[in-house]
Amino acid sequence: MTKIYDPYGVNVKAVDDCSMEIAGGEVCMIVGPSGCGKTTLLNALAGFHSITSGEIRLDGELLCGPGKPLAEQGADRIVVFQNGALFPWKTLSENVAYGPVVQGKMSQAQALDKARQSLAEAGLGNVADKYPGEVSSGMARRAEIVRALINHPKVLLLDEPYRAMDALTKSIMHESLLEMYDRTKVTIYFITHDLEEAIFLGDRVYVMTTRPCRVKKVVDINLPRPRDYSILSSNEFRLLVEETSEAVHEEAIKAFQAGERELA
Ligand SMILES: Nc1ncnc2c1ncn2[C@@H]1O[C@H](COP(=O)(O)OP(=O)(O)OP(=O)(O)O)[C@@H](O)[C@H]1O
Ligand SMILES: [Mg+2]
Repeated sequence: MTKIYDPYGVNVKAVDDCSMEIAGGEVCMIVGPSGCGKTTLLNALAGFHSITSGEIRLDGELLCGPGKPLAEQGADRIVVFQNGALFPWKTLSENVAYGPVVQGKMSQAQALDKARQSLAEAGLGNVADKYPGEVSSGMARRAEIVRALINHPKVLLLDEPYRAMDALTKSIMHESLLEMYDRTKVTIYFITHDLEEAIFLGDRVYVMTTRPCRVKKVVDINLPRPRDYSILSSNEFRLLVEETSEAVHEEAIKAFQAGERELA
């Protein structure tokens, strides 16, 4: 696909003929220089904005393409994860039930039933009627993911959800996400600037070029699942970080130089 922004008649080519094939159930991690077009790709997948040319397919079905510039939104297909978005004045089950009720997909009673069931599956059955402030942060994080996955979407999109978090909170987020992934095997499209995060969570890491965005390199992460943090100190992990960071660094330098030229 290609995406050209046209603010005030000034063309900005954000994505240029970028082609990606993501397998069902894959954890696809996207890294690349700032401003390279990662969020642009995510917004196109989410149906938040149109694409200029090309197409996006989900299981063969055309979501977006010629004559269909905007991907159709649907919480049961593609969902964008919102971090830290639990309402403090609602219980966990009310929080999880909120989406389907607002979208008019279920009655309040049906949604609450479903929410309790999903929370129980995630090991949160005994805190379903507690408020976010009454449970541990790990439990609240798990409830956030349960909320995103309530309609069993095929794809979960995350745009730097754990940016600027301290290491401990981040590790709780990672554990919650991996635990949920191991149960649901939802396809994940996850943007990050943190290479270790990309390798720790991903099946594949896509290193993107500086703008206009294309795939520069795909690194397969063949680390066994379920994963835990002990893997970070392994030789295999270190080699993957080296392999990936080299490609990222190359593009970051190009981006920097391009920026300098624009300023000159
Ligand atoms: N609405 C818009 N109108 C015009 N240009 C835009 C718009 N949104 C993004 N751009 C431009 O498109 C390019 C890609 O932006 P995008 O936000 O996709 O990058 P990114 O890779 O997500 O960056 P970051 O890592 O900083 O989040 C940038 O040059 C940006 O300035
Ligand atoms: Mg972005």
